[in-house]
Amino acid sequence: MDWQQVLATRSGRMKASEIRELLKLLDQPDIISFAGGIPDPALFPAAAFRDAMDRALTGPMAGAALQYSVSEGYKPLREWIAGHMATIGIPCAADQVLITSGSQQALDYLGKLFLDPADTALVTWPAYMGALGAFNAYEPRYDRLDPKGNRPAEAIAEAAEAAGGRVKFAYLSADFANPTGETLGRSGREALLDLAEALDIPIIEDAAYQALRYDGAAVPPILALELARKGDLNACRTIYSGSFSKVLSPGLRVGWVVAAAPVIQRLVLMKQAADLHSPTLNQIATEQVARAIFDDHTANLRRVYGARRDAMLAALARHMPEGVRWTKPEGGMFVWLTLPEGMDGADLLAQSLKSERVAFVPGRAFFADGSNGNTLRLSFSCADEAMIEEGMKRLGRLIGAS
Ligand SMILES: Cc1ncc(COP(=O)(O)O)c(C=O)c1O
Repeated sequence: MDWQQVLATRSGRMKASEIRELLKLLDQPDIISFAGGIPDPALFPAAAFRDAMDRALTGPMAGAALQYSVSEGYKPLREWIAGHMATIGIPCAADQVLITSGSQQALDYLGKLFLDPADTALVTWPAYMGALGAFNAYEPRYDRLDPKGNRPAEAIAEAAEAAGGRVKFAYLSADFANPTGETLGRSGREALLDLAEALDIPIIEDAAYQALRYDGAAVPPILALELARKGDLNACRTIYSGSFSKVLSPGLRVGWVVAAAPVIQRLVLMKQAADLHSPTLNQIATEQVARAIFDDHTANLRRVYGARRDAMLAALARHMPEGVRWTKPEGGMFVWLTLPEGMDGADLLAQSLKSERVAFVPGRAFFADGSNGNTLRLSFSCADEAMIEEGMKRLGRLIGAS
């Protein structure tokens, strides 16, 4: 069978990244890896989930836990999320919350909801590569979102029209972004809201790391700032995408979207068509675990990851040669390195895996235009302090010699 002749055009943009191929080598036991942007499995609240699943599967609840359920999501979980959102400045009702199978599913649905081929998605440079992957299927063009100093709205809109479509949304991760670890300050968020108003487009606020702040003052979510302007969530253009992946478990695939009713209603229809609903048992267990331990558990994560962040920043300062710059994240899982001009992160990774046995993610894949090859992402979430010290020593030595 010649598959090529039956493939939809959009499938041409779904490519396995060369980085993923390289990262397959990471299973080898002597590699020190800073590549995976994943939570430390040693910190999963496994006992709490075991108890919750046990309860959910015992007695009358078992029928519901193993049954089909509504596309909007398990009501008590949506109620818990609504309460949680109020604590971060976004009071909302359970029916303004949709449960998704991880926030990745929300990104896919939002791409599907808004993008026609040749439409423009505004994304940060760099952006979470999984978001670019999700949107790519809908054949957009990308333009650069620079919340610290955007081009005028008219210039952005004209470029989108010249490319044969319209600007459809701005996507960003405002807290401890993947991959840079950086946080957009309040004035940047306000400026972004102004830009979105001028372009009359939604903002997709990807808040996957929101609960993982280690120091500094919390900045209100973009949706909270917009809510303060408008007083009614249903009048807001910001679509908030949250996730339990980084704080409870990514394997259970439970995330959520909070947005104005017209968006939630359309996403519910999309979910009905795509997968009916997220796994019922996982939602029930997540609700029980979140209700019982969310605050204590996230406080512990902040303590452990915060110490790893400190260790990485200190080791970078000790071992990186002149000419290397890096971000100082206040939370999340990542530090972003800029290498001297002319060096390439992918070449460095190939060399590093060979001679230093240290892994990281080269930066180019996070740029919608494949630029900025002299960057790389380090994750500190799964490394202990001794590994961080040794890894940065080896990496600094390699960069210094390159
Ligand atoms: C910024 C960002 N958004 C979304 C996701 C997707 O996470 P999940 O689908 O597990 O919620 C990730 C995962 O790495 C991420 O880094």
